Amino acid sequence: MTAADLIDTLPAAWYADPAVFQDERRRIFARHWHLLGRGSQLAEAGDYITGEVAGLPVFAVVGRDGVLRAFHNVCRHRAGPLFTDDSGRCQALRCRYHGWIYGFDGALRSAPGFPDADALDKASFGLFPVRVASWQDLVFVCLDDDAPELDTWMGAVTELAAPFPAMGDFVFHGEKTYEGACDWKAYGDNSCEGYHLPFVHGDLAKAVTSCDIRTYEDGGFVGFHVGYAGGVREAQGLWIYKFPAILLHFGVRSINVEQVEATAPGRIRIRSLYWVPEGESAFGDAYRADSDLVIGEDMGVCERVQANLEAGLYKGGKLSPEKEPGTVFFQRLVRDALALPPVSLDKQP
Ligand code: FES
Ligand SMILES: [Fe+2]
Repeated sequence: MTAADLIDTLPAAWYADPAVFQDERRRIFARHWHLLGRGSQLAEAGDYITGEVAGLPVFAVVGRDGVLRAFHNVCRHRAGPLFTDDSGRCQALRCRYHGWIYGFDGALRSAPGFPDADALDKASFGLFPVRVASWQDLVFVCLDDDAPELDTWMGAVTELAAPFPAMGDFVFHGEKTYEGACDWKAYGDNSCEGYHLPFVHGDLAKAVTSCDIRTYEDGGFVGFHVGYAGGVREAQGLWIYKFPAILLHFGVRSINVEQVEATAPGRIRIRSLYWVPEGESAFGDAYRADSDLVIGEDMGVCERVQANLEAGLYKGGKLSPEKEPGTVFFQRLVRDALALPPVSLDKQP
């Protein structure tokens, strides 16, 4: 390998620049499928889950016809919210501001007390729809009408995960939210390589006996095929970093999914969900504690990196294609995506 084989990192300024962040909302996050919640939260008519994609509030709700639909969480009257909580069951979609009511299909049903109600063409004031689809117990939404179907977007992830137990074989074992003072790209850079393992994760490094890291164009993700010396991770596992920002960890006895949300330049929120075999809640607690430690270690180093990226001395560095092929791949996807035109979110004339 020569100096010419080394690859420039993304510019440090991209990790904190509000203009880059706005570009990423429209050119990256709005283009991809985003994990909103779990299908098992959506069993009955009126069950809903809410969240944010690319900075836009959205929700998914089950209709009386059993169909799951998703919409922007914005009322067509004066932009009030339909929901202000995370999840639940409702009888109707009623705006929290002045009480306009929509059907579970998003159609405006009534605008109570609105002067000259007949003057309002209800058919033109339905909620703005959002695409929704499921894989295993995960419910995803996508703001881009032209993006591929969820299955296509998942690409080879589905096939690689197939030998492992599915979420339906396990029971849900809770979730935890983390707020981090680092950019989603810093967390992504870190999640796509195993180079840092011995320095950042002492215990995990001791448990890992082999790690084969590959990049997958079909689905745009980095896959870590890991062998372990037993412990909560058992003998083998598959770690996936799926662009732009979801991590999927499949094990013989556990599944962990982390959805990373870019909340502001240099700020993330991680939602980490767990599944383990039924009746194994003590094991589930131990697995979660281990995961919590690893996430904390990663977040800790990423926050220090972020502080250095923002301090202004370091402008950029070099990546090794040999030691950091996943990070090279991730940063290429970021560059490519930012070169594309933004997704149009316009729903109104
Ligand atoms: S903003 Fe929804 S009813 Fe007024
Ligand atoms: Fe790590």
